[in-house]
Amino acid sequence: MLQKRKRILTGDRPTGNLHLGHYVGSLANRVKLQKEYDCYIIIADVQALTTHWDKDENLARNVYQITSDYLAAGLRPEDSIIFIQSMIPEIHELTMYFSMFTSVNVLRHNPTIKSEAAQHGFSDMTYGFLGYPVSQAADIAIFKADLVPVGEDQIPHIELARKIVRRFNSLYKPVLVEPDVLVGDVPRLIGLDGQAKMSKSLNNAIYLSDSIEDVNKKIWNAVTDPARIRKTDPGHPEICTVFEYHNVFNSNNTEEIETDCRKGQIGCVECKKKLAAKINELLEPMRERRQQYNQNDIRDILIEGTKTAHLAAKKTIQEVREAMAIDYFAKK
Ligand code: TRP
Repeated sequence: MLQKRKRILTGDRPTGNLHLGHYVGSLANRVKLQKEYDCYIIIADVQALTTHWDKDENLARNVYQITSDYLAAGLRPEDSIIFIQSMIPEIHELTMYFSMFTSVNVLRHNPTIKSEAAQHGFSDMTYGFLGYPVSQAADIAIFKADLVPVGEDQIPHIELARKIVRRFNSLYKPVLVEPDVLVGDVPRLIGLDGQAKMSKSLNNAIYLSDSIEDVNKKIWNAVTDPARIRKTDPGHPEICTVFEYHNVFNSNNTEEIETDCRKGQIGCVECKKKLAAKINELLEPMRERRQQYNQNDIRDILIEGTKTAHLAAKKTIQEVREAMAIDYFAKK
């Protein structure tokens, strides 16, 4: 018998252009996974509203931008169903059913919710923000995803999704699938300024949409070992951002660079040039792929993906309603 392919669901909030941190942390993996799995990629625009409800004028632009970044990175519309969260009403319906048996205290103690609330300076949380993990559980459950590849910060949400699905299945009927988390083994990419994380809000990112010149300029300004003034000064790669990037983007040559840096045989200028060339080598095929899609193509891809996702969601919600015995007009 032909074995059914496992289904993956993952996605992002459309809050800005995707950068190299997203690429090494998740996109590169998705590009690989799309060949083996049934892949659903959610553009979580409703979830973006939980923190950006007053900046909705950027939302449409960001939805198109993130899709363009996905395609540039190598997600193929033939293999990955890219769709928009707000356009699948069944997700919101399922969120509502899930919220009937999800406790407020469990949400309040969710470590990711706590740290995000602190980061955004929320003294009080909105109902939508506190409840977004419930909506995320619905994102996953409505598509009966088997696997959810995410970063570490998302683990509490996937754990909750598992619990909610288990609870639903035992309360009503076992129609939903308990998802497994698939955590990447890549460490988080540090920022150009040496800060712990590459991020748009810290203004320390290289974007997938950056030009050759942007990349060269950003690497040129990146922080290196402050003790090194002359090329002949021995360097300390272990505290150098540029070296850390060599580790990620130029892994075949790191040993040589490390030795030469420690001996003062390669200067920061040359080292940065080598790195910038490597990063541009990675981004070049993305630049070419991006060229292949105009605004209308992206729109068509989103329409098509959303249509396919909607069909799958409608099927599940029927089963959900039947399980909950609220399918009032179904012929028995
Ligand atoms: N919370 C995820 C993030 O901020 C985005 C997301 C929304 C998601 N729904 C999802 C991820 C479902 C995996 C599965 O990156």
